[in-house]
Amino acid sequence: MEVSDSSSRILAGLLEARTGQQLTMSRRWRIETALSALLRERSIATLDELITILVMNKDPKLADAVVEALLNNETYFFRDRAPFDMIGQRFLPEIAQRRPDKRLRIWSAGCSSGQEAYSIAMMLSADPLRWQGWTFDIIGTDVSDAVISKARRAHYTQFEVQRGLGIQETIRWFEEDEDGWQANEKLRKMVKFEVRNILDAPPMGGPFDLVLCRNVLLYLNNERRRAAFERISTVIAPDGGLLLGAGETVIGQTERFAADRGHRGLYRPVDLTSPEAKLLGT
Ligand SMILES: C[S@@+](CC[C@H](N)C(=O)[O-])C[C@H]1O[C@@H](n2cnc3c(N)ncnc32)[C@H](O)[C@@H]1O
Repeated sequence: MEVSDSSSRILAGLLEARTGQQLTMSRRWRIETALSALLRERSIATLDELITILVMNKDPKLADAVVEALLNNETYFFRDRAPFDMIGQRFLPEIAQRRPDKRLRIWSAGCSSGQEAYSIAMMLSADPLRWQGWTFDIIGTDVSDAVISKARRAHYTQFEVQRGLGIQETIRWFEEDEDGWQANEKLRKMVKFEVRNILDAPPMGGPFDLVLCRNVLLYLNNERRRAAFERISTVIAPDGGLLLGAGETVIGQTERFAADRGHRGLYRPVDLTSPEAKLLGT
């Protein structure tokens, strides 16, 4: 299937308009692979035919399906393990000392099919003595309806489970059925999911003690990335933490967050009204 420049420009434009995600020239090779199943399913022979249907708005649901297919939903349980160890062993226990109501609020923004949010739920549940009497409000949000539906089902294939979990963890937190594994009721009750664009209003339920926004903002332009950081800053607790993906940073992107030297990969909200922030011109 040939992807002409004009087709790829239109499809990239649609994706960007709906989600802010940019399909830069070097990533446009993804279009063909990403859309092939959708075209087969809808018996659409070529991308030009797809564009014609989209432009003539003959099938309003098709644009949603195209955007869903073009999004990169790559994720797995305990992705990059180290940040989960840091959060579970140090950051959350530290912040817990300042939460007499014994409640922690966590937002996984751009959660894909839920593995990140369930990883947090597993991590906290794995230490019942430490967290006895605590309540956790964990919310996962994503712009894609399809991944949020999957996250709510909490059902994963053998391959998806194996990608991040050992056999002991799998057996402890999941129940096997003929198609794979479903997260047990305890985990499912800990996490709520919502379709939400990171560029729109943040979810209710804050202020959040921890926000994970990993591998989501990478392909946003600077202005939108800045806007996303700004929105997150409005719902994060003053002593809360923002976790980005490996290789992502706030440096040069926003003055609303600053690296926390004591916790690698974690960023803290900056009080822009503080005398220090004013002095430093941030
Ligand atoms: C590469 S996945 C990362 C998933 C998970 N955070 C992780 O690191 O494993 C990126 C997710 O961000 C979502 N996403 C992209 N643009 C978004 C937006 N504007 N608002 C909310 N979610 C978005 C995608 O649908 C996708 O599920």
